[in-house]
Amino acid sequence: MTSKIKKAVFPVAGLGTRFLPATKAVPKEMLTIVDRPVIQLAVDEAREAGIEHFIFVTGRNKAVIEDHFDKQFELEETLKRRNKDIELEILQSDLPGAGQTSFTRQQEPLGLGHAVWCARDLVGNEPFALLLPDMFIHGSPGCLAQMKNVYDARGGNVIAVEEVPQDQVHKYGVVGVGADAGEGFEITSMVEKPKHEDAPSNLIISGRYILQPEIFALLDKQTAGAGGEIQLTDSMLKLMDEQDFYGLKFTGTTYDCGDKVGFLAANVALGLSRTDISPQFTQVLKQIIARNGGLD
Ligand code: G1P
Repeated sequence: MTSKIKKAVFPVAGLGTRFLPATKAVPKEMLTIVDRPVIQLAVDEAREAGIEHFIFVTGRNKAVIEDHFDKQFELEETLKRRNKDIELEILQSDLPGAGQTSFTRQQEPLGLGHAVWCARDLVGNEPFALLLPDMFIHGSPGCLAQMKNVYDARGGNVIAVEEVPQDQVHKYGVVGVGADAGEGFEITSMVEKPKHEDAPSNLIISGRYILQPEIFALLDKQTAGAGGEIQLTDSMLKLMDEQDFYGLKFTGTTYDCGDKVGFLAANVALGLSRTDISPQFTQVLKQIIARNGGLD
């Protein structure tokens, strides 16, 4: 019998230097994919998977994320007076309930492992989900909902993985593949940002995790690894001595919104999937491509 996953952690302390000047005053997580901030899409995915409490590990200049997940009375009253029912419904249905959000700060940028460790008291002694909002995973059901199925069947820890070309593995955490385990497979090893000749496979960690709380005691003692940062992958590797880890090759498409091309591609993909704007957007895209010399 596995315990229910009720809490999700969202590390959102990154500086977003790749998006300057856009991210000078606006956190990168508030940049929009069509009309939804990147962080909202990660929260949407978590809510779909049944998450009830949303824990944000923020940093300086990120206060607007807290405002985004708060009720906006003046705006709602104005929308009501103007009979803007659809807009009002969007605001109200997106809003987590009272007491369902928590915010803590990662005071120094010491790495993903350190950011997760900063959430230890808010998570407490229960399994939790971890979503890296930069990785927007487009698909239905969402990636975390798919991972929950593996977790409900197997327990332990679950990591979403996907294939990348071998010459890209050095940018990610990479897992070793063991026996089949129902919808997932047993993970046999993992390494953060390996040289391509040292990578155990070309299956990378896609930024979605279900983890047991014992990870925190390991993060507590974790020293810096790849890139001089405290790496979550290094502590997960240690936890593998005591607990099972399963990988899931999920269905869906990942867009790395921490990267300019990935971010633009996410906007195109979501735009084309939105029935309200898709026909018009398709036309405009075709015109732009034609004006730029066609597709090849
Ligand atoms: C982090 C993780 C890495 C994972 C990646 C996904 O790396 O450490 O294992 O593959 O996210 O985006 P980062 O992108 O923070 O360097």
